[in-house]
Amino acid sequence: MTSLIEHNTFHVEATANDVLYYHDATDIAKLLTKYPDAKILPIGSGSNILFTGHYDGLIFKSANKDIVVTEQNADSVLIRCGAGVVWDDFVRYCVEHDYQGAENLSLIPGTCGASAVQNIGAYGVEAKDLIVSVEAVNRKTRETETIEQEHINYGYRTSNFKTLWADTYVISAVTYRLKVATHITKGLLNLTYRGLNEAYEKMSASMPHATPLAVLRHAVIAIREQKLPPVDTIGSAGSFFMNPAVSTEKARLLQEKYPDMPHYDNADGTVKIPAAWLIEQCGWKGYREGDAAVYERQPLVLVNYGKATGKQILNLSRKIQNSVREKFGIELRTEAIII
Ligand code: EPU
Repeated sequence: MTSLIEHNTFHVEATANDVLYYHDATDIAKLLTKYPDAKILPIGSGSNILFTGHYDGLIFKSANKDIVVTEQNADSVLIRCGAGVVWDDFVRYCVEHDYQGAENLSLIPGTCGASAVQNIGAYGVEAKDLIVSVEAVNRKTRETETIEQEHINYGYRTSNFKTLWADTYVISAVTYRLKVATHITKGLLNLTYRGLNEAYEKMSASMPHATPLAVLRHAVIAIREQKLPPVDTIGSAGSFFMNPAVSTEKARLLQEKYPDMPHYDNADGTVKIPAAWLIEQCGWKGYREGDAAVYERQPLVLVNYGKATGKQILNLSRKIQNSVREKFGIELRTEAIII
């Protein structure tokens, strides 16, 4: 039995039968041959998982941290990352090389492999906007497949890898496309998320010699550091819940009752209501039960201030879901995977 405390950013005590590392697709096929009947859970840095006890199976982890430019032309560059590349190392690499597209996703915890499962997103950009293809080993056939982006069915924090194919593949590498330009200007950046343009201008004044990509990276980092708990000192999995989408009719009825309710139109005609607002309205912001708590600055983040167990955090999350359901008739779905 192996402890998973170092393999999850909630820092909860949990165990699995073993943690096994692979570098490439050949290693994955070898491991699958060696353990043909084992239950397998591939993880990145465990930054989107809540372990609630013993996992009676094997944890697979990529140790591949290679970032390689595989193709480049005047407009764009293809970058292949091993599944184990730390996501923010990739973002930093892109910013330093003036490759544009990933900068809004600065400081998101996790790995490149997980980015392709989870479709991580922030400040108006999602991983799917950059992903070209994913290399993965089919667990049944042990063959390596290259799956093109259009077949992965990406949506808000979801993909076929998270749903339909949850037990089908182990990811070995991800290829992203970023823009190149001889001179990247502010006009190329995505500053549409509310408050981002102001944060960019403020950061720009304090780093006048930095490139636009570096300025935006630092602006995003500053916002995240202000709102989200630092993963190295406070246990968390980022947003524990997803922002719910409701029908326009439901949103209208809620607005009549709660005129100050923030709401944003989604592209598919539904309306996004921030989970943070719903949770705060139910009185949970900053609530603490032992070491399990609702982060005081961003209530859709649950935190472990020390020795909380996975079960305690799960209990707290269920209480929050129940009260949001009772007060607003809205079902909060978890973004974190519960094991
Ligand atoms: N809000 C409150 N109370 C609070 C905080 C926020 O009511 O204490 C409301 C405000 O109306 C605010 C709104 O919530 O305008 C949205 O807040 P914020 O901009 O912080 O974003 P979010 O919707 O809560 C999402 C992602 C984050 C991502 C940010 C920025 C989800 C589940 N979360 O949060 O992603 O960084 O947008 O794009 O979609 C993550 O997935 O782990 C994550 C951190």
